[in-house]
This record gives sequence, structure tokens and C-alpha cells, in this order.
Amino acid sequence: MGGGIAQVVAASGRHVSLFDAAPGAAEHAVETMRRSLEKLAAKGGPAPEGVLERITPVDDLVPAELMIEAVIESPAVKEEVFRRADAVLPAEAVLASNTSSIPITSLGAVTGRPERVIGMHFFNPVPVMALVEVVRGLDTSDETTAAVVGLARDLGKTPAEARDYPGFVSNRILMPFINEAAYALMQGVSDAQSIDAIAKLGFNHPIGPLALADLIGLDTCVAIMEVLQAGFGDPKFAPCPLLRQYVQAGRLGRKSGRGFYEYAS
Ligand code: 3HC
Repeated sequence: MGGGIAQVVAASGRHVSLFDAAPGAAEHAVETMRRSLEKLAAKGGPAPEGVLERITPVDDLVPAELMIEAVIESPAVKEEVFRRADAVLPAEAVLASNTSSIPITSLGAVTGRPERVIGMHFFNPVPVMALVEVVRGLDTSDETTAAVVGLARDLGKTPAEARDYPGFVSNRILMPFINEAAYALMQGVSDAQSIDAIAKLGFNHPIGPLALADLIGLDTCVAIMEVLQAGFGDPKFAPCPLLRQYVQAGRLGRKSGRGFYEYAS
């Protein structure tokens, strides 16, 4: 998602430094952005090269007005990024997280500027999805919230605010839906195609819950359910055993080529 976020920020005319700890990942993301921008250009969007020239892959965090973090859904990894960003970015910079479910308050607490730490939760695929869920941690200031709401609008997105409770609004609703679809599959209520067809045609969803889980990543789905379960202390949020089993098998969805469905490389 980091690449998609970089793309929409650059498309708004801003300069982006793109950092990924894995060597070559930022360059790979630029190629994905190019394909996305070509699709959008065919529909009247900006010229791909004009957007891409504002994106610079970097090999470490660099000073900036804003960081948008989009690393894996691991509290320890995210906290480490926020600690380092707090040391590298200027004191007035805003530190935002694209986390799906990790508390913004806990990310703010590892920095010396919790009032400037906020959730900026984009949706996949970022270039086409209209929403940014803006999540206020306990100490996030009104000024930071207003700046990020304004930025989201400037990116052509619709911001919606949420408080920092487990799963915020989006994943508190979405993940139990996906989890229940996985239970329906595990219990043999129906096959994957039929479960998805029921959601698509019955509820007018663009794709079914199992195909959506593959798009999000099954490891991310399990991680979010664990946050909901721990945060609310309610067993109804326990991840479906079949979801866990797929993750154990390395079936993570689109990104690994196989999840509930198989994908051509
Ligand atoms: N960049 C640019 N354009 C893209 C694109 C991308 N990355 N991905 C898709 N598109 C465009 C296609 O070119 C196509 O354009 P066209 O209609 O002009 O031909 C259009 O979007 C539709 O794409 P497709 O025809 O390939 O396929 P679909 O009709 O199935 O649409 C989809 C794809 C937009 C992804 C649609 O399936 C969808 O909306 N799915 C649901 C997505 C969703 O719910 N996302 C939220 C996930 S939850 C999340 O991210 C939060 C996290 O915390 C878990």
C-alpha cells in the first residue's frame, strides 16, 4: 500500500521520498505505480512520468513535513519506525500511520510528539479507493487532525474521522465479515466461489469477502482479528482456524500467488 500512497501524494503535486527496508522494494513499487498511472492516464489522469519524477526512492528515513508509515502490521516494527522517525523528522512534522488496527495512541507514546501522531488509513487499491479513515489517538491535536483531513481532501479522497478503538470503524465492521465467510467455507456451508457470489450479487459488493481477503492479505486479516480479540477481550473476534492455517501454509492471498484463490504470477 505504501506505493499506492506515494503515488496519490505525488499525483497531488507533492514530492515523495519512498523508503522500504527491503532492498529493491521501492524500485519495484515504482514499476507498479507506473502501471497504475498508465491506466489512470488513459482515463484523463496525469502523465505517469510527471508523477513518477516527484518520487525518489531513498535508503533511509529522511527529514520531511510528513511521514506516512505503511510497514507490516506488527506493533514492534511500527514502534521502531516511529521512534526513528521521531529522531529524524523535524519537531513540527506529522507522523501518520496507515495501520489497519494498531492503536495510534501506542505509536504516539513512543515519540516525543504524540499530538502530531495520527492514523491515515487508506484502502486497497489506494489509487482507486475514495476513503481515508483519519484516526485520532488519545493525544492527537485538533491542528494535526485538521491538517490531515485537509491533505486527504487535497489527494482527492473523502476523509472520515474515527476514534482510536480496536479496528477503528472500518476493520471492526469488515474483518468479522471476512472471518465469518472463512468459517462458512471451513464448515462446508458452501464453496469459495458461491460464498463470494452471494456477497457480490446479494449485497452488491464489488468483490466477495474471500476475494477481498486475498486482496488485503490473509496474514493481515489474522493480525487484525487478533487486535480486535485482544482489544475487546471478546472471543467472537477469534480468527477463523482456516485463515490461520492458510497463513501457516504461506497462502497469503494475491501477494503470494495463492490464498482462497490462485493467481497467475
Ligand atoms: N490503479 C489504477 N486503476 C485501477 C487499479 C489501480 N491499482 N486497480 C483497478 N483499477 C481500475 C481498473 O483499471 C478499472 O478501470 P476501468 O473500469 O476504467 O476499466 C477499474 O479500476 C476496475 O478494475 P477491474 O476491472 O480490474 O476490476 P474490478 O471491477 O473488480 O475493480 C476493484 C477492482 C476496484 C479493486 C474492485 O474490485 C473493488 O472495489 N474491490 C473492493 C476493494 C475494497 O473493498 N477495498 C478495501 C479493502 S480493505 C482495506 O484496504 C483496509 C485494510 O485496513 C484492510
